[in-house]
Amino acid sequence: MSVKEIKISINEYNSINELNSEDKLLIDSAKEAVNKAYSPYSKFNVGAAVLLKNGEIIQGNNQENAAYPSGLCAERVALFYANSKFPDVAVKSIAIIAKKNNKFIDNPVPPCGACRQVMLETESRFKSPIKVILFGKQKIQVINKISDLLPLNFTADFF
Ligand code: THU
Repeated sequence: MSVKEIKISINEYNSINELNSEDKLLIDSAKEAVNKAYSPYSKFNVGAAVLLKNGEIIQGNNQENAAYPSGLCAERVALFYANSKFPDVAVKSIAIIAKKNNKFIDNPVPPCGACRQVMLETESRFKSPIKVILFGKQKIQVINKISDLLPLNFTADFF
């Protein structure tokens, strides 16, 4: 028997001013998107902004439904729209932010498992790492590639 350890690194920042201008701009875009979320059931608003390699920024937010499972997370709304509008363009980064009771949350919201899997598909499809930027009022976390958030992942390479 052998034990394998998987190590990931997360860059943490206390202030948005520590980030480069590209990442700051993407956070601003996610902040704009969060205000347009349709979340009457959870009242938890999530915004995402995707930066493509061609410089385009695509926004998304969570879209809920009276038949609960029919809704979709902000990350997938943004990413599916980006991939549908620019099917040949790789994704460089995604910023994610959430609001509860109309206030930005203190700690960053990490993407759910299904969103990680969808982001992984895009990352592996274009063979280009997607930087994940998670904004919270107290700290900002940056993960350099989505596969770090989904170790032992399943991709099309298996079949
Ligand atoms: N949600 C997102 O949009 N992204 C996540 O990463 C986690 C959860 C949404 C789904 C649902 O509309 C609400 O947040 C509460 O789960």
